[in-house]
Amino acid sequence: MTLRKKLIAGNWKMNKTPADGVALVSELVAAIGKQTDVDVVVCPPFTALESVGRGIDDANFKLGAQNMHFEASGAFTGEIAAPMLRALFVTHVILGHSERRALFGETDAFINQKVIAALKNQLRPILCVGETLAEREAGDTLKVVQTQVEAGLEGVGKDQAPNLIIAYEPVWAIGTGKVATVDQAQEVHAFIRGLLTKLFGETIAQKVRILYGGSMKPSNAPELLAQKDIDGGLIGGASLEARSFVDLVKAAAEAK
Ligand code: PGA
Repeated sequence: MTLRKKLIAGNWKMNKTPADGVALVSELVAAIGKQTDVDVVVCPPFTALESVGRGIDDANFKLGAQNMHFEASGAFTGEIAAPMLRALFVTHVILGHSERRALFGETDAFINQKVIAALKNQLRPILCVGETLAEREAGDTLKVVQTQVEAGLEGVGKDQAPNLIIAYEPVWAIGTGKVATVDQAQEVHAFIRGLLTKLFGETIAQKVRILYGGSMKPSNAPELLAQKDIDGGLIGGASLEARSFVDLVKAAAEAK
């Protein structure tokens, strides 16, 4: 029996205007707004953070951003800083998503600076890690994940570590409809928990939530969420529609 509360986070990616976002969360609030046995995080694009934040005022949901810069302010055209997110009552931030790594050239060292800055600003990082199909086929999955976890968390102190959230997202499963098998996912989640144990000790490692991401949907969620080291989901496509996101939160509540 785990002490970790399940967490379901919706990564809306580059979708939804503020009005669309408010419409979606009003449906979510009506269906699951007072849910307390699962942590629910919605991560709209920057432009919808403020209105979606107001839209979840009456719910137990948390607000997350999808990225941020590690500097607090300055000449970084097009970037958003942690204090700006805090001012909008953001509590979580997705960092190192595979789309940012692959399409925007983010490196482990760059992502690490963001993780450190997020923690310093009382934002909970959702650090994404995961292998590509070529890496899995070459038998390099655990090696790749180890590098991303260790480099991403370099310099994180034991005092801050309980605030971390890790998302294991095999790149080949994201947005493809191809989900990792429960055994594939559990193997990597347990491996990540082992890495966290080495870095921070057993007690802290047992507290950190490790989410699965990659084509998670209501039909495959129950068996994934039943695994010992799978503590929730980072949901892309299925978070854009109220019905499927509500069903995922319910699946997490039942998986406890
Ligand atoms: P998906 O995306 O659920 O659409 O596969 C997950 C993610 O990229 O976080």
